[in-house]
Order: sequence, then structure tokens, then C-alpha cells
Amino acid sequence: MPNCLQQNQDRAYWRKCTLSRTRGGRQLSLRPELTAPIIRFYLSDLSNYPMPLKLFCISNCFRYEEPQSGRYREFYQYDVEIIGSEAPESDAELLLLAGDLCRRLGLTEVRFRIGHVGIVRSLLDALGMGKAEQSQFLHLVDKKKMEEAARFLGERKVTAEKSAEIIGLCRLKGDSSALDGIKGTAADYLREVLAIAEGAGTVGMQVDLGVVRGLDYYTGLVFEIDAPELGAEKQVCGGGSYALSQLFGGRPVPSTGMAFGFDRLLLAMERAGNAPAEEGIDAFVLTPSATLRQEMVRIAGKLRSSGIRTEFDLMRRNMSKSLKYASSRGATLAVIVGDKEAANGLVTIRDMQSGEQFTVSAERVCEEARERLPKPKV
Ligand code: HAM
Repeated sequence: MPNCLQQNQDRAYWRKCTLSRTRGGRQLSLRPELTAPIIRFYLSDLSNYPMPLKLFCISNCFRYEEPQSGRYREFYQYDVEIIGSEAPESDAELLLLAGDLCRRLGLTEVRFRIGHVGIVRSLLDALGMGKAEQSQFLHLVDKKKMEEAARFLGERKVTAEKSAEIIGLCRLKGDSSALDGIKGTAADYLREVLAIAEGAGTVGMQVDLGVVRGLDYYTGLVFEIDAPELGAEKQVCGGGSYALSQLFGGRPVPSTGMAFGFDRLLLAMERAGNAPAEEGIDAFVLTPSATLRQEMVRIAGKLRSSGIRTEFDLMRRNMSKSLKYASSRGATLAVIVGDKEAANGLVTIRDMQSGEQFTVSAERVCEEARERLPKPKV
């Protein structure tokens, strides 16, 4: 992790890091998340590209946690960042992508909790509270320590009435009408994003102004997505708009992003009875003929280039042993390159489930195989 984060004392960030020293005494950190590395990459290599930039990556992250079900010291994130736009459409784009991804994975019960840190911060600004103290307050809200948060305000001579207003906002939840009567650009922005995302069919969204996120870099809209099937560690995704480039010495650039916890997504899919199928193959190509091995490999290559998951016989087994192996690999089809067929430019496709066989043109093997494979679920 870069020194500038250390210099800026982003304590929330450092709390998530796992620090160790090399034998030479250098202090190193394992990355706790992917947004900071992506913004550094943007500043070093991508800042001249046309905006907006849309980036994603899937990588392992490390946090010094008490390990339990769904909470690990090493886990994978699927991270998406949109850099360069401050329009509400960019935050809405993330919500649409997240909704679509959950739908495709069969997670139909997910709940989006959406807030905007600017709403509470603007009230704290009006009280003259500095950014560092605001962050301390927001950490208490993030940890749902509302009584402590109220005490924190009291200790800073905030009137009971004002304190009740702020704590009330932090507890505010509901559909978009919960925002009725809240004034200011932050609330207007949030209303606009919700309207765009709802209009485009995103379901399961709820306003929750208590979502302020644990990392200090968030500046605007923030959200978390829960998969109820997971119980205690149910948050499968978190994100929002943030300011990070200045921390690395760059010019300010509006950015927004999110990260799904990959391990939690898989757990949620399992619990929803929608675990990813065991990896099988679509087609296994074999030949009973010693002179047709080259043709067998050519046919396998054609199938692979058309996107059909294909393997071919590497063991020079006889037909029945090859078919047995294909079946043990979960192949849907066997493609048999036989002598008589090959002499006429043909191959045989065998449906491994029903045992039915079809003789088809070798040149059309991809189309013929595809017709006999289950259609991909969208
Ligand atoms: P985060 O909410 O800290 O956000 O992490 C994103 C997701 O990673 C969580 O919602 C959760 O599913 C998963 N996760 C976090 N910690 C663990 C853990 N110990 N074990 C298993 N899964 C875990 C971020 O990291 C931000 N960088 C997201 C972001 C991107 N904001 C803007 N752009």
C-alpha cells in the first residue's frame, strides 16, 4: 500500500490492512480491497483515456478478521469501477449491473440498502464539525452504535433537538418516499438515482440513510446488498461514489464503484438451491481409427473455436473405453470420427444421455452439436 495513504492517516483503511515486515524490516501490507489499487493504476496508466472509464477485476483480498462462516482472512472480490462521471446515471448503472448479476445468479431475494453520506455530512458541516470528527461519528453509525453516536454529538454541545434530527436521519429507512421532505443536493441526487434504477426495473431497493460504509473515502451515494439466505454475514456487495485520486497525488476525479464478495455469492447461490453446476464438458471427440487421430484433433479444434467446451481422446483408448471416459467427464455429446463416415466427410454425434446417434457433415459439426446442447440460461 502506498505511503500517501499512510501520510493521510486514513485510519479506517489501515484498520482493514494486514501488515507485516520483510526480513529487511520494510513494512508491507496485503491489499484489503481493490478500489485503491485500481485508482493508482488509473493515475499511472489510464488517465489519458476518454471518460468514463469502466474497469473491473476479480482478485484476492486480505483482512485481519475473526474467521467464521462467510468471513475470511483471504477472500475474493469482483470489483467494478466507473471513473470520470459525476452524473446520477453512473451510480444507477452500478445498481442495474448489480441487480442483473443477482438475477442471473438466481438470487431473487436480495435487498439493496441505499443511502447518501452527503445528507448527514451536510448537517454536520452546518454545525461546523470538521471532516475527521464527522468520520468518527459516521463510523459509530456504520457499526449501528446509535446511542454512542448520540452521546458523541452531545459531548460536542450539539443541541438535543439537532442531535435527534441527525440520529433520526441515520435511522431513516423505507421506499423512496422516505426521502420526502428532505432538502438539499444530496437528497435530490439520491432521489434521481433511485428513479432511474427503478424505472429500468431494478427491484428490492430500499432507502437506508444508516448505510454510511466503513471506508472513509466515500463521498456520495453508498449502498450495500444483502442476500438474506446468508444469515449473519449476509452482505454480498458494497459500494458507492468516492474521492481517492487526490490521496495518490492525482487531480480529483469523480468515481463510483462496487465490489461483490465472490465467496459469499457462491454461498448464497448454494443456500438458494442454485449452486453452480459441476464443471462438465459439452463434447468429447474420439476415433476408433489410428489413421484418423489428426482429423479427431481438427474436429475438436473447430468445436472449441466455436465456444463448445470440448476434449478429445489423449489415451488412444478403444471406442467403448473412450465412451465410458466421456460419460465419467459428464460430456453431453460424443463426437465419433469413424472410418466410413470420414471417407464421406461425415462424423457421428452421440447423445450421451439417450444413446441416440446422428450422422452429420463434418464441416457443420459445430452447428449440429450446438443444436443438441442445452440452451444457455440467461
Ligand atoms: P466492502 O463492503 O468492504 O467494500 O467489501 C465488498 C464485499 O466484499 C462485501 O460486501 C463482502 O461481500 C465481501 N467481503 C468483505 N470482507 C470479507 C471477508 N472478510 N470475507 C468474505 N467476504 C468479504 C469494498 O471493499 C469497496 N472497495 C467496494 C467499492 C468498490 N467501493 C467503491 N468501489
